[in-house]
Amino acid sequence: MSSHKQPILVFGATGQQGGSVTHALLAAGWHVRALVRDPGSPKSAALRDAGVDLVPGNLADPESIREAMRGVHGVFSVQPSSGQGALYGVSDEDEVRYGITIADIAVESGAGHLVYSSTNAVGGGPTGMGHFDSKARIEAHVRALPIPTTIIRPAAFMEMLVMPGFGLDEGRFNFFMRPDQSMQLVAVEDIGRIVAAIFADPVRFGGATLDVASDSVTGQDLEALFTEAAGRPVTYARFTDDVLASNPFLAKLTDLVDAARLSGNADLAALREINPGLLSFRSWLAGSGRKAFTEALGASGAWSYGHA
Ligand SMILES: NC(=O)c1ccc[n+]([C@@H]2O[C@H](COP(=O)([O-])OP(=O)(O)OC[C@H]3O[C@@H](n4cnc5c(N)ncnc54)[C@H](OP(=O)(O)O)[C@@H]3O)[C@@H](O)[C@H]2O)c1
Repeated sequence: MSSHKQPILVFGATGQQGGSVTHALLAAGWHVRALVRDPGSPKSAALRDAGVDLVPGNLADPESIREAMRGVHGVFSVQPSSGQGALYGVSDEDEVRYGITIADIAVESGAGHLVYSSTNAVGGGPTGMGHFDSKARIEAHVRALPIPTTIIRPAAFMEMLVMPGFGLDEGRFNFFMRPDQSMQLVAVEDIGRIVAAIFADPVRFGGATLDVASDSVTGQDLEALFTEAAGRPVTYARFTDDVLASNPFLAKLTDLVDAARLSGNADLAALREINPGLLSFRSWLAGSGRKAFTEALGASGAWSYGHA
């Protein structure tokens, strides 16, 4: 358990990554503060009930970030992106500005450790996709800060695979890789456990850039695992040429998988030492992914991630 009295400020605590980080930090005994847009929302209320101090604010309002950062030990920084389409309405420039503002105010506030969440697509030069190249710009800024910083690069979230629109309701699953090609995935709850381990050991992780994943699966693995979990056949195929021709966003992501830019390079054995509870896709599907998977089996609809 941590003996720190100073809190860690978590951005995006009502969302996937920030929520996971919040719960893992609380479990490790940290005081957690969260900047939230709407302290009256049910998700904010759940954070308050869990013991999180809420500070109202907005990423577009540096003064609110400054207020939230007063006296913190550490900062977990994650931003919404244009890849999430109309959900938050942010541009790539917004994302970069938010990420740099958080980083600069962390220094100004005397924070002892900043953990920035990027993506595993960063690292081999520009990708040509705005919501990845934005993160390369934030990473460069974070790396030059005069305080201990750690950059994590999460793989594609397991949670994304059970969003409606990939065909599960029709007994099929279409995704980016060829059937024999592998891709790393991360369970969002593993992100929190790894970030908690990072805050617990700033000497080891200060200055580090860590690719973060939970498991590696091929299309054939997904076919077997989805069939097993559904109790009925689910066939796997890459997105068809027609789908890719009509959806440039999916087509560019598929190209990046082929170019080994999105397939992932995380060292799963090393991550398992940091987080012994690292989840396989099978165990995630049987556990926290079960509800969304069951819903996706019965939910038609088009995948809209990445579309304005
Ligand atoms: N999906 C993937 O496979 C994947 C993989 C690697 C990296 N990523 C990256 O992960 C990031 C998204 O993380 P996530 O999935 O954890 O996000 P998320 O679940 O959509 O949550 C976004 C959080 O940001 C908050 N927020 C949005 N706009 C805000 C603003 N103007 N001021 C303050 N807070 C604001 C939201 O708060 P409210 O409750 O107020 O809405 C929410 O807490 C993106 O940059 C994406 O590119 C995604």
